[in-house]
Amino acid sequence: MEIPASSPILLFDSGLGGLSVLSALRKTLPDAPVIYAADTAGLPYGEKSEAEIAARVAGLLGRMSERFYPRLICIACNTASTIALGMVRDVLHVPIVGTVPAIKPAAAITKTGTIGLLGTAATIRQRYVDDLEAKFAQDKRLIRHAAPELVGAAEAKLRGHTPDVAIFERAIAGMKATTDGVEIDTVVLACTHFPLVQAELAAQMKVGVQFIDGAEGIAKRIASLTQGQTFERSDADKAVVTGAVDDALPAALAPYGIGSVTQF
Ligand code: DGL
Repeated sequence: MEIPASSPILLFDSGLGGLSVLSALRKTLPDAPVIYAADTAGLPYGEKSEAEIAARVAGLLGRMSERFYPRLICIACNTASTIALGMVRDVLHVPIVGTVPAIKPAAAITKTGTIGLLGTAATIRQRYVDDLEAKFAQDKRLIRHAAPELVGAAEAKLRGHTPDVAIFERAIAGMKATTDGVEIDTVVLACTHFPLVQAELAAQMKVGVQFIDGAEGIAKRIASLTQGQTFERSDADKAVVTGAVDDALPAALAPYGIGSVTQF
């Protein structure tokens, strides 16, 4: 059966972090209709248990699929993807693209062989990350550091506030204080919220490091899986959130081509 040109790509995150993926997707597929879905009632995922995250993500994506008939779902969240990707793929009959830490490209560009990985507490402890490290960075040193405060900082920045600079200082100082931390020349931003505060993080690095995230790769993967399909994006896109629609939300989403936001 042919996919209707108006059938959306559903982009899912716990909050506004997935907008870093949406930016890349807009460049690659400007005509693709998108529904941006955020489980704001469950934010932050990084502080939750694996069971809770898996149940929320699988339950919500099931209900959203029935409501919106997406042609493809992108889990634009490292925490949700590293925990629930396999399970969601088993139960939903729609192509699912996940967002997982960009360890492979980081391993290809590091010169010192020491890579920092900033993620949520839940992401950095995942077996999925162990497997990526074993597969792509076995001869490198991967320093994992949880930086949960950056999630709130990115949410605040998008809502027009200036986050406390001490948050960025703590994230970078904490990562560098680990054994061999000063050797880090490449930092994987393993949470979709973090590219949204990349400039603030870069300002804390005394020597230049390269930051890397998965957004472009994900956009390319979505383009390849939808190749040959037609897209028609006649209206502004929509967002749905599971929590209350706060006053600052419409303005935060508007620059990403999202014209309305409602509670799911
Ligand atoms: N944006 C999410 C990620 O990529 C996590 C934020 C949260 O803690 O909910 O991991």
